[in-house]
Amino acid sequence: FGLFTLDPGFRSTGSCRSTITFIDGDKGVLLHRGYPIEQLAAKSSFLEVCYLLLNEKLPTKAEFDDFDDKITHHTMVHEQLLRFFAGYRRDAHPMAIMVGVVGALSAFYHDALDISDPKHREISAHRLIAKIPTIAACSYKYHYGQPFVYPNNKMSYAENFLNMTFRTPCDDDFKIDPRLVSAMDKIFILHADHEQNASTSTVRLAGSSRANPFAAVSAGISALWGPAHGGANEAVLKMLGEIGSVERIDEYIAKAKDPNDPFRLMGFGHRVYKNYDPRAAVLKGACQEVLDAVGKHDEPLFKIAMKLEEIALNDDYFISKKLFPNVDFYSGIILSAMGFPTNMFTVIFALARTVGWVSQWKEMIEEEGQAIGRPRQLYMGAPQRDYVPMDQRG
Ligand code: CMC
Repeated sequence: FGLFTLDPGFRSTGSCRSTITFIDGDKGVLLHRGYPIEQLAAKSSFLEVCYLLLNEKLPTKAEFDDFDDKITHHTMVHEQLLRFFAGYRRDAHPMAIMVGVVGALSAFYHDALDISDPKHREISAHRLIAKIPTIAACSYKYHYGQPFVYPNNKMSYAENFLNMTFRTPCDDDFKIDPRLVSAMDKIFILHADHEQNASTSTVRLAGSSRANPFAAVSAGISALWGPAHGGANEAVLKMLGEIGSVERIDEYIAKAKDPNDPFRLMGFGHRVYKNYDPRAAVLKGACQEVLDAVGKHDEPLFKIAMKLEEIALNDDYFISKKLFPNVDFYSGIILSAMGFPTNMFTVIFALARTVGWVSQWKEMIEEEGQAIGRPRQLYMGAPQRDYVPMDQRG
């Protein structure tokens, strides 16, 4: 095609240079700034991972305290922004709310939208990371008709999010089990970044026009929403519910293998991982811990998931196509056990991925000679022809 190659789905097109995240899909390896995801999930905290993604290194104690201060300084959202929620139908999908409200942040921060100024870039990054849990929790509260809960800066990032989501004014004794806080933090870490996936590429493309970061991240949230991307854990839970019992698994495995049936096993397969997704391995362990914490260790959906995984991993179709469980396979079960409705799953993914989007946006903007993203196409339409007035058209 002359000067370019056609690559639908960008299967073999590298779109940028990056120093943030490394994936070896054949070996099932995921590194952030060189650190294995398993070590970060076991030993770090989400806020520390945020610092790492943004700043290329793990923080010293003083650097971390300063970062923590800066983030907590921005956790509240403007009261006028809260009024945006009232414009949505009561039953609006929380992702629809997220797309609109996060985009609307740009209208509140004209003081720091000069993206050529490093200080403006930094404060926008902090604002996004700090405010996204508040907005996510408000989208939940709005959906259920409950009053918004303001952020509590004495709590950790994950605990604060759970508190804003589940606390109600009539429950003075409300406390969150530390095991759930730890699982929430792990889920955030595991979703923090994943190099050039559809939503991150969308953020980079939108940002490449030098649109402000709030607008670019709002575009990323839209791209994340689909069931082939962030919406998959919602789809996994729906699928497990439809399967309903261990006895019916074979029927669904057969459907997934049938070339004439569009059904796919949700939570299986990945564009890059052709091995076990390392994030799914961490979540499988966390899933058992959460089910124990909430007293649901006999959760039938978990039993179906375990059996489904075992059958698929030993099935020739899945082996030959290198289809393994991905991060979404277990995250839905954990979130559901924690009390989140399915329509909040992708919101939580968006919350956690915001730091990845912002880090990738910042890296792109700071790259020398950064160009606007502008893919080409292979035109398949009509050749040049002359306009025919309406009364002469056949
Ligand atoms: N169940 C059954 N067959 C599958 C599945 C599945 N989950 N995934 C892929 N295949 C088959 C597919 O039918 C195709 O077969 P054939 O070669 O005979 O046409 C082959 O495997 C390759 O599939 P593909 O769609 O070309 O692969 P892809 O790399 O474009 O798709 C995927 C990756 C994640 C979109 C796909 O595996 C899928 O739809 N999985 C289910 C949805 C899901 O779990 N998505 C979450 C992705 S991970 C989280 C994230 O990054 O957002």
